[in-house]
Amino acid sequence: MNTPSFTQDWFSRSIPSWSLILNKLSERTTHLRILEVGVFEGRSTCWLLQNHCKTPESSIVAIDSFQGGIEHKGMELGTLRKRFEANIATVESPTQVEIREGFSLPQLAKLIAEGYQRFDFISIDASHQAPDVLGDAVLGFELLKPGGVMAFDDYIWSPMRPGTENPLLLPKAAIDAFTTLFSQKIRIIPNLPLYQLYIQKNAGG
Ligand SMILES: C[S@@+](CC[C@H](N)C(=O)[O-])C[C@H]1O[C@@H](n2cnc3c(N)ncnc32)[C@H](O)[C@@H]1O
Repeated sequence: MNTPSFTQDWFSRSIPSWSLILNKLSERTTHLRILEVGVFEGRSTCWLLQNHCKTPESSIVAIDSFQGGIEHKGMELGTLRKRFEANIATVESPTQVEIREGFSLPQLAKLIAEGYQRFDFISIDASHQAPDVLGDAVLGFELLKPGGVMAFDDYIWSPMRPGTENPLLLPKAAIDAFTTLFSQKIRIIPNLPLYQLYIQKNAGG
């Protein structure tokens, strides 16, 4: 049996929060429908397959350009989709992963236009530029079931020295704008580490 091979670990820090949330979501459905926007080498996808996708009726849709973001300059990206596919193939899971290769905004719009069945859990972790994150959030919200949860990675991430940041290149301003404008349709899930931010769509949403 092959083992997955990863060059980066941007995911392990999220495992405690994802476990709590996904265990709770699993109380209302045995077949989780998951959308990941930004999968890179599949570290989070492999974990989802191993821990929360035990039936053929569960599903994961993975959107990625497989071209990296501006923060990935210098990394080997030419084989990224192949590495993702090879990694998820190492996991024995009955759940299918549907890869939708392309930029997130047109891919999300396509899912909406196709009338795709909504998701229990959506992870937003693709482009970290604020306009892209805002678009991912708004389109993702359309694809989220009432009571479903959307996770924003890197809420307070910044690769720049304090005071030199350009907020338009970071996720935070977009996530704040989204949570403000959608405040009557969502709740922010409290008492979780703030590096990620998690929202739940209202039951009637
Ligand atoms: C931070 S990584 C995702 C990490 C992954 N969630 C994990 O935990 O291992 C971001 C990914 O988003 C992809 N990406 C960046 N901008 C994108 C965009 N506009 N549309 C789709 N994918 C994008 C990159 O190719 C990269 O694989």
